[in-house]
Amino acid sequence: MISSMRKVKDLLRNLVAGESSPEPAGREPSAEELDRMQANLAENLGAWRESQYYGQAEPYMKAQWESHVWPLIKDSDFSVTLDLAAGAGRNSDLLKDLSRELWIVDINQTNIARCRERFGSYAGPCRLRYAVNDGTSLPMIASGSLTMIYSFDAMVHFDPQVIRQYIREFARIMRPGATGFCHHSNYGSFAPDPASHWQSNPHWRSHMTAALFAEFCREFGLEPTRQVIHSWGGTEDLDCFSCFRRPG
Ligand SMILES: C[S@@+](CC[C@H](N)C(=O)[O-])C[C@H]1O[C@@H](n2cnc3c(N)ncnc32)[C@H](O)[C@@H]1O
Repeated sequence: MISSMRKVKDLLRNLVAGESSPEPAGREPSAEELDRMQANLAENLGAWRESQYYGQAEPYMKAQWESHVWPLIKDSDFSVTLDLAAGAGRNSDLLKDLSRELWIVDINQTNIARCRERFGSYAGPCRLRYAVNDGTSLPMIASGSLTMIYSFDAMVHFDPQVIRQYIREFARIMRPGATGFCHHSNYGSFAPDPASHWQSNPHWRSHMTAALFAEFCREFGLEPTRQVIHSWGGTEDLDCFSCFRRPG
């Protein structure tokens, strides 16, 4: 949990430019990478359908938001926001108070049902829109329609190729000038085995890296603006908060 984060390093704006990456971006994935991506999608689908995580994580949200999330997103335009991999909606609950329209998306139908129930009596003014997706694409969201992309405590488990597919989608659905905030794994930057199974890694982190996230952004015309690497659950530098924008 974030309460156990011990160190926050600010790798300010574009620091990762030119850093080497364990996997070259700017090319389509190999058959082996696609197999790993499909396995990761199926396993994530199963792992988060029913989980004690939701109840356990809920009480930490306010402190995590105030200490780590809000300082990085406070200048965002939340008008039309996406909460990607929303789970039981603890982030959506905060985002709805900032947004005019909020997309609540998750690969698991059970989670979207949880969110519908959670916000069932919410009467606005934010317009809530719900969608179950396939784990890599967002066809229900119109091109150029979002002002803000948000994902916290979920992409840390996503295979790098899943994240690449999402970044391709972000570039499509973001308005010019829109910004994004994604919390993802940095485990691959120091893990010895790129094929390690995510559920065997510390805190189920994937083999993603900060450098790779920035490369994927550039590949699809997005600009990485800030990356903050931090520790999680006692493992130093395990995670990264990446901020990015669509130029224009
Ligand atoms: C650890 S939970 C986090 C939920 C929420 N973000 C939170 O902070 O409480 C991970 C979430 O990611 C969702 N998920 C996993 N893989 C996904 C994918 N490829 N696309 C969309 N959602 C996914 C799961 O269904 C689950 O709701």
